[in-house]
Amino acid sequence: MATLLININDKKGRINPEIYGHFSEHLGRCIYNGIYVGEDSSIPNTKGIRNDIIEAFKNIRMPVLRWPGGCFADEYHWKDGIGPKADRKKMINTHWGGVTEDNSFGTHEFFDMCELIGCEPYLAGNLGSGTVEELSQWIEYITSDDISPMADLRRKNGREKAWKLKYLGIGNENWGCGGNMEPSYYSDLYRRYQTYCRNYSGNELYKIACGPNAEDYNWTRVLTDKVKHWHTRAISLHYYTVPSGNWDDKGSATDFTDSEYYKTLEKTMYMETLITKHLEVMSMNDPEHKIGLIVDEWGTWYNVEEGTNPGFLYQQNTMRDAVLAAKNLDIFNSHCDRVVMANLAQAVNVLQALILTEGEQMILTPTYHVFDLYKRHQGSELCYSHIDSGKVEGFNLDELSKSVSLNEKGEMVITISNCSLDKAQDIEAIIPQFSFDKISARILKQDVRAYNTFDNPENVKIEEYNGVTKTADGISFNIPPCSIMEIVLS
Ligand code: AHR
Repeated sequence: MATLLININDKKGRINPEIYGHFSEHLGRCIYNGIYVGEDSSIPNTKGIRNDIIEAFKNIRMPVLRWPGGCFADEYHWKDGIGPKADRKKMINTHWGGVTEDNSFGTHEFFDMCELIGCEPYLAGNLGSGTVEELSQWIEYITSDDISPMADLRRKNGREKAWKLKYLGIGNENWGCGGNMEPSYYSDLYRRYQTYCRNYSGNELYKIACGPNAEDYNWTRVLTDKVKHWHTRAISLHYYTVPSGNWDDKGSATDFTDSEYYKTLEKTMYMETLITKHLEVMSMNDPEHKIGLIVDEWGTWYNVEEGTNPGFLYQQNTMRDAVLAAKNLDIFNSHCDRVVMANLAQAVNVLQALILTEGEQMILTPTYHVFDLYKRHQGSELCYSHIDSGKVEGFNLDELSKSVSLNEKGEMVITISNCSLDKAQDIEAIIPQFSFDKISARILKQDVRAYNTFDNPENVKIEEYNGVTKTADGISFNIPPCSIMEIVLS
């Protein structure tokens, strides 16, 4: 029996909806033959964007979508992707798979998509190989409603009214694919580029500087020493979970031992250490915590599925990924006072995807279902909670992980996962001073190696759970091995 203690009077902060954010890159089949099929496709679409994908994104209340990269962002020249499609430049996507990029998905298509989903757009601007003028003009093109050459060009291309753009990243991984820079050099460039990204027509940019790769604390130290809160609102962090720790042979997405499963989760828990330490380093230069932290790339990275283009990063997605996603979302929630956004890599057909497609077929992955189970936390107040979880034998890994929040309607949402492969647990939740009449619960539960295929798309799916009982002090329930639950009390 484990006790879960919840204190509704001890609020830890608002869970920014953007913590449940996503990422889409011109990589493999994420955009082309994934999200975007073109207006002439026989697959039902709106302005070329798949209707089933739009609906699926809306269902999990996708709050924000990052685009166009990734590494692609620092090679992307936005003017190639506007105007009549027949006139757009065709080129090779040299970074990802050496395939043809015809630029048929560009700025207008991306903003159309965000409008259809109802999410905030998050642009990654090109600092690595683009110019200050180019980035400055992109912002003008998108957000200016005034008399201006770029606003006129946008109008000529069919969009009268400016769009709103809040999130603007300036560069991506500039310590690596974004130019292999030193932190000091990047900081100077960042300060220069951001100067010319103006607030037009009432639009207010939330500028984001490229932060560290994993444990590069020196990058964070130098960056936050030189780049101040009047230059940037947040810095980004990237951390991928690679089961083997070896980038040349990362491990299979579906074929793994129990021990490899636990090891993968142990590695993903490094996210907690990284966030805690980077926030500490940031505090040295920003003691009032005016600069936020954004984990704008996270997730699992395995060997690609056999027979697929190595440059496409296509991988399957099992219950291991689902449990891992739950643990990461709990980490982000627990730091909601300073982690303002997180973006899973990536939305469709790439890395730890929400959705996989094959022709007209589409499947939701176990990871997608976790975002469904957790969606009610968005915008809610995180409450203090503690669970006396045991450790998985032989690993430095808690069996249980959870988040508890209260929303505006006074509903309590509890999400809890059990990563143990063989131990169910009885949970007694003590919730003083909280009254409720209604209990509803949903569960995602399957074998750890289970996944969805185009022949069996509902092998892993959410089910109703009727096993939660009201007690004198709160609730009690049993959580099965390898499962994730959502309980709503109202
Ligand atoms: O998500 C795949 C790649 O991982 C991104 O393009 C890059 O930013 C990171 O290295």
